[in-house]
Amino acid sequence: MKKKVSGKTVKKSIDYKQMKGDSRWFVRDRFGMFIHWGLYAMAARHEWVKKREQICDADYEVYFKHFDPDLYDPREWARLARKAGMKYFVVTAKHHEGFCLWNSKYTGYKSTKTPYGKDLLAPMVKAFREEGLRVGFYYSLLDWHHPDFTVDSCHPMQHNQAERAKNSKRDVRKYAAYMRNQVRELLTGFGQIDLLWFDFSYPGEDGKGHLEWESEKLIKLVRKLQPDILVDNRLDLPGVGDFITPEQWQPPAGMTDEKGKPVVWEACQTFSGSWGYHRDEMTWKSVPQLLGMLIDGVSKDGNLLLNVGPTARGEFDYRARERLEGIGEWMRRHSRSIYGCGPAPDGLEPPPDCRYTYNPATRRLYLHVLAWPFGTIYCPGLEGRFEYAQFLHDGSEVRFSAPGEAAWAGLGSDKFKKMMAFNLPVVKPHTEVPVIEIFMK
Ligand code: GLC
Repeated sequence: MKKKVSGKTVKKSIDYKQMKGDSRWFVRDRFGMFIHWGLYAMAARHEWVKKREQICDADYEVYFKHFDPDLYDPREWARLARKAGMKYFVVTAKHHEGFCLWNSKYTGYKSTKTPYGKDLLAPMVKAFREEGLRVGFYYSLLDWHHPDFTVDSCHPMQHNQAERAKNSKRDVRKYAAYMRNQVRELLTGFGQIDLLWFDFSYPGEDGKGHLEWESEKLIKLVRKLQPDILVDNRLDLPGVGDFITPEQWQPPAGMTDEKGKPVVWEACQTFSGSWGYHRDEMTWKSVPQLLGMLIDGVSKDGNLLLNVGPTARGEFDYRARERLEGIGEWMRRHSRSIYGCGPAPDGLEPPPDCRYTYNPATRRLYLHVLAWPFGTIYCPGLEGRFEYAQFLHDGSEVRFSAPGEAAWAGLGSDKFKKMMAFNLPVVKPHTEVPVIEIFMK
């Protein structure tokens, strides 16, 4: 925010664009749980079901009328998250459908008015805090239920001309004020909130962006209420936000701003494609694949926010539990290669099918072997730079051959003779992704 005063450009007193949250914990903790939960868990066929199937409010009401997650036990969710090695969680306080998990005084479209009859958010926040996780809220900028949210290209009634015609009577400024009211509730009623995930902007003729959301007012309010909070980058305010949010893809390298400066980033990923509970989706990722995504992200200086879509009864489905337990089994012995870690020191390129992570505080380098090779792993650039190496899962020594020794038969080219190599057991160690912990000099 700049204004011209007698020909010179001076800064206004509060420059919200300069204000940043405290991301130190975030880049250290690396791994969080996303939770998408709302009425769409009942449809069980994607959280965008209302839009995808162009369901009108009257028909969607059937879910609200019958919502009763009687088996909901947030302590169980929090325990599963902690045991998987997750250090923070981000829950959809409100998703695009507009339904609120807390007892907001600005709407009747909330869990307390369903047959379940209780606030879902407060006990969740408490349970996750008690398990030592930090707290994040996802808040949808879209709202398919609010009367002042004009029908646009992302609205379930997009193709309904009668609904479109009513837009002239809808006042998106009232909706923007509603959002500020709700965000104030979320940031004042639940103690310290570590992270806020706004979703999302689609500016343009038939879309909405910072002008409709009144994003500047919104972000100022957020920074005022919780100065350390981390905010994502989806408010349509270039340069504003503490982290970048690649969704359902893994970046090929560390992420940077337009000038090439590294930025904080977090990939958000699903187990099976849909964010909300999807009964019939069969494209579930395997435990080693999910671990590979976490490791890959950390090797590129990024976080992973891995999503669970709880069922309409209030539980994590068996496939989600299986994945979380599998991840936890690995994390119990390997989290040292994740927490506090980032990319390898300069000049170290990982061998094929491997990823390096590095903890600068302990000066340990972690070689993750995603596909088990035969006999040796050649590690160019490592010669003379470390003093000891061991497997992380059992602390057993991993011996190595000095340059020249590994290609002892002398059949390789001279190039190989310059590389040191770790000597591996023929059989892959009994762990999803074996890791060699390398103590650097
Ligand atoms: C998208 C979708 C949404 C999901 C989000 C998570 O923007 O609209 O359903 O919540 O991604 O990143």
